Amino acid sequence: MVITGASHGIGAGLVSAFSEAGYNVVANSRSIGASTDPSIVNIAGDVGEAETADRIINEGVGRFSRLDTLVNNAGIFIAKPFTQYTVADYEAMLATNVTGFFHLTQRAMRLMERQGWGHIVNITTTVAEQPISGSPAVLASLTKGALNAATKALAIEYGPRGIRANSVSLGIIKTQNPDSYAGLESSDPLCRLGEIDDVVSAVMYLERAEFVTGEISHVDGGQSAGHW
Ligand SMILES: NC(=O)c1ccc[n+]([C@@H]2O[C@H](COP(=O)([O-])OP(=O)(O)OC[C@H]3O[C@@H](n4cnc5c(N)ncnc54)[C@H](OP(=O)(O)O)[C@@H]3O)[C@@H](O)[C@H]2O)c1
Repeated sequence: MVITGASHGIGAGLVSAFSEAGYNVVANSRSIGASTDPSIVNIAGDVGEAETADRIINEGVGRFSRLDTLVNNAGIFIAKPFTQYTVADYEAMLATNVTGFFHLTQRAMRLMERQGWGHIVNITTTVAEQPISGSPAVLASLTKGALNAATKALAIEYGPRGIRANSVSLGIIKTQNPDSYAGLESSDPLCRLGEIDDVVSAVMYLERAEFVTGEISHVDGGQSAGHW
């Protein structure tokens, strides 16, 4: 299994959970250090760079005999009114959220095609489908909405070759300083914020759900259901 954005937050939680479940894991982020666990290979690098994807596949996946699953988790979120986004904001979000997906998913799927099986999981956000009044984030919609669309397209194109593709679309998940979430508990119908374990459970489910592909699985406390 390959997991990007794995030094912190959801990615780090996914690495721990899948490692404990017996998976060999290739973990990536820009700042990730070497692993002391023989079942985990850490590859440092920016997912927006093609050479990072090459090293993840050659140095990381090459250490193990196969690639069951790629979790495209690395992502950045810059929220501002649309007219205030800078070109640097735009380029950073496209590079990490979309170009990162392109380089690594293409290389991973070439391996999966040869194996005859595989699973792509894209971590996205419900804001792409249900923008929140007062929380402008057009570039999150643009980039993560693109991943949701690509998930369905990949599922259709590669299902006959044994490769599944799914998205996990998130509401607010607590990955930063707890103080930064004050007052946000009412952001979804369940009136609580998500935990990293909520995301881990969904990815684990999709990993084992062999008849599920092209799914946008919402882990958002019901945010995607509509207004509340
Ligand atoms: N937390 C939420 O509420 C929430 C909501 C909706 C969607 N999401 C999505 O969930 C995913 C994980 O979010 P998170 O909250 O766990 O994020 P996080 O705590 O900010 O962690 C982001 C991870 O991505 C890595 N990263 C950032 N840019 C990278 C790049 N260019 N190349 C490689 N790695 C990079 C970071 O490590 P380095 O700094 O070492 O590179 C870090 O490990 C993201 O795709 C995010 O958009 C999160």
